[in-house]
Amino acid sequence: MSQIEGKFLQGKVAVITGAGRGIGCAIALAYARAGAAVVCSARREADIQETAALIQAAGGRAIAHVADVADYASVSVLFCRAEEAFGGVDIVVGSAGVALGQGKIADSDPALWRKTIDVNLIGAYHTAHAAIPYLRRRGGGKIIMIGSGHRKRPRPNSSAYSCSKSGLWMLIESLAVELEEDNISVNELIPGPVKTDLTSGLALIPNEWVKEPEDVAPLALFLASLPDRGPSAQSFSLMRRA
Ligand SMILES: NC(=O)c1ccc[n+]([C@@H]2O[C@H](COP(=O)([O-])OP(=O)(O)OC[C@H]3O[C@@H](n4cnc5c(N)ncnc54)[C@H](OP(=O)(O)O)[C@@H]3O)[C@@H](O)[C@H]2O)c1
Repeated sequence: MSQIEGKFLQGKVAVITGAGRGIGCAIALAYARAGAAVVCSARREADIQETAALIQAAGGRAIAHVADVADYASVSVLFCRAEEAFGGVDIVVGSAGVALGQGKIADSDPALWRKTIDVNLIGAYHTAHAAIPYLRRRGGGKIIMIGSGHRKRPRPNSSAYSCSKSGLWMLIESLAVELEEDNISVNELIPGPVKTDLTSGLALIPNEWVKEPEDVAPLALFLASLPDRGPSAQSFSLMRRA
């Protein structure tokens, strides 16, 4: 990471789940470059320590905190730690996600199917639920959830993932309605296909813009730059096709 510059997120605190690698890591680095203090979270400590170290080495502010989004208690402690470290929370990015249990429904493993829902949907609910009191204390804020184009159409061998992201979209819309009077906007960022661990070995959608994680950062920065009373319950996509 080069020098920190263009600090329009100066004074803001961002909590990012799934910041250990892939899209969440790229967003963490971009937000820090824009001046935010960043709380990097995931389950694997070595990964988030590395993200935080990259930020610190470039002169940014970051801590790493291990949390499993499927476990409400650990997500709750995450936000407590963020406030202790940086005085509050302004922006929450839910990028923690898995694509387990790929295969036809008839052949799928019920435990892996449930785990995908537990992380991608219940984990996002845990993240938002735990974040709300902290955002309210700041008088507003933003929740940005990383969704998927898979929620819009059934794709073979991907039912658990598609259902989790479909439920996530309704969670986003529900949160947006309920948090409007708190000046908290809630939006979805759909990255389209990105080369990460999550997609390695999976067939990517043909004729799509296949991205590096860094390609998702500009849209994440744009969403973070909007007013808290800006767009909410909206889906922002980097896909070439509907
Ligand atoms: N890559 C794509 O093409 C694509 C497209 C559309 C949407 N997305 C979405 O983008 C998000 C990020 O995906 P990615 O491609 O960047 O995947 P990735 O490279 O595999 O990164 C996923 C991150 O989530 C963390 N994570 C997984 N389970 C977790 C849990 N239970 N609690 C906390 N953290 C957890 C992982 O760290 P640990 O394993 O250490 O916890 C890792 O840091 C996901 O929500 C995914 O569904 C990706």
